[in-house]
Amino acid sequence: MLSQLESGRALQQAREQMDALFRLVRSGSLYKRPIGERHRIIFYLGHVDAFDWNLMARYQLDVPAFHEGFDRLFAFGIDPPPGELPNDKPTDWPGLPEVEHYQRRTREIIDQLLPDIPEQLLHVAIEHRLMHAETFAYILHQLDYPSKTAPHQGRPGNGKAARDAGPEEWIDIPEGAAVLGLERGGVFGWDNEFEAHTVEVPGFTVAQYKVTNGEYLEFVKQGAAAPFFWADRGDGWVFRGMFSEYPLPLDAPVYVTHDQATDYAKWRGKRLPSEAEFHRAACGSPRSKNRNFRYWDPIPVTADDDGTRRPMQLTGNGWEWTSTPFAPFPGFQPFPFYKNYSEPFFDGQHYVLKGASPRTAECFSRPSFRNWFRPSYPYVYATFRMVNG
Ligand SMILES: [Fe+2]
Repeated sequence: MLSQLESGRALQQAREQMDALFRLVRSGSLYKRPIGERHRIIFYLGHVDAFDWNLMARYQLDVPAFHEGFDRLFAFGIDPPPGELPNDKPTDWPGLPEVEHYQRRTREIIDQLLPDIPEQLLHVAIEHRLMHAETFAYILHQLDYPSKTAPHQGRPGNGKAARDAGPEEWIDIPEGAAVLGLERGGVFGWDNEFEAHTVEVPGFTVAQYKVTNGEYLEFVKQGAAAPFFWADRGDGWVFRGMFSEYPLPLDAPVYVTHDQATDYAKWRGKRLPSEAEFHRAACGSPRSKNRNFRYWDPIPVTADDDGTRRPMQLTGNGWEWTSTPFAPFPGFQPFPFYKNYSEPFFDGQHYVLKGASPRTAECFSRPSFRNWFRPSYPYVYATFRMVNG
C-alpha cells in the first residue's frame, strides 16, 4: 500500500522521468516521426497527461472536461500491422503552447484530486507513464543525432576489451515448477499478470550469457541480415547508439527482432526459451546494473559477473525474447477502466519478452511483469539467450 504522500511523490518522479526525455529533443524536432509505426513526438507530450486525465479525472471522478478535443486526440497510441503506416502531417497536430497548457492544467487538477483517486488507478497512471519513458526512448533513439542533445553517460561499456570467444557456458536447469503471474489482492499488477498459476517445466540447459554482437556477426557473415541497430559505414560495423555511433561492441548483447533471434538459435541448433523456462532460469539470478535508466546503451554481457556460475543479466541490459506468443493466463480479466491494455494483443502476432532493458523502470523488474511486441518490430531494446533441450 502506498500512502497518499508516497503516491504523489511517485507520480511526480514519473513525470520528471518523462519530462527529462522531452527536454533532450531540440526545438523544431517535436513534430518529427522517428519511427514510422508510431505517432509524431508531439503526441507523446500530450498523451501521458491525457491518459491520466481520462482515467483519473474523467472516468473515475467524472470531473467535467475542459478540452474534449485533446482528451480524444491524445488518448491512444498506435500499433499498426506491417505495411499500414499512419499518414498524418505535422500541421494536423496542435501547437506546442496549447499542448503545454493542456499538460499544466491536467496536472494541477489531478494533483488536487489525489486523495480521491483509488490506489490501483494511481499505479496504472504511474506505470503507464514509466512504460512510455521506455518506449519514448526507443523513439528518441531513432531521432537523428543533430535533433537531440546528449546528457552525461551517453555511451557505456565503450572501449572495454571484447570478451574472449571462449567456450560457451551452459547451465543446467533441473525439471521443476515455475510460478507465473500474481495472486489477486496482493501487490499491483497489470491485467495480463493475473492469475498466478504453476507450470511444470522439464529440465533444460540455458546459456549463461545473452547472445553478443560478436556472436551474431558470425551469422551475418554467413549471409543473415544485419540487426537494425548496426550500420556499415565502409570500414566496419558500427553500433547506432542513443547519442552517437561507435565501433560495434562485440561483447554487448545484440539487439534483434524475434524473427532474427529465432533464426539465429535455429542456425546454432538451439532455440529460444519459453516464458516458463525463462522464469525457471531467472529464479535467484542476479539483476544487471544496467536497468532503471542507469545507462542508455548496452554494456558487456559479462559486466555483472560475480564469479558464480549461473545465468547472468536475465533482468537488465536488454529485454529477452521468449518463444511464447502473448496470451492470457487462466482467469484473465481486463481492467474495466482500461479494456484495451492487453486484450487486442492476444492475437498470435505478439511475443512475450521478459527481463528489463537499460531504460526499464525498476517497478517492471517484478518477475510477473510481461512485455510484448510484434516479431518483426526492430526498435525495441530486445536481445535473447538460447536454450537447449
Ligand atoms: Fe499510452
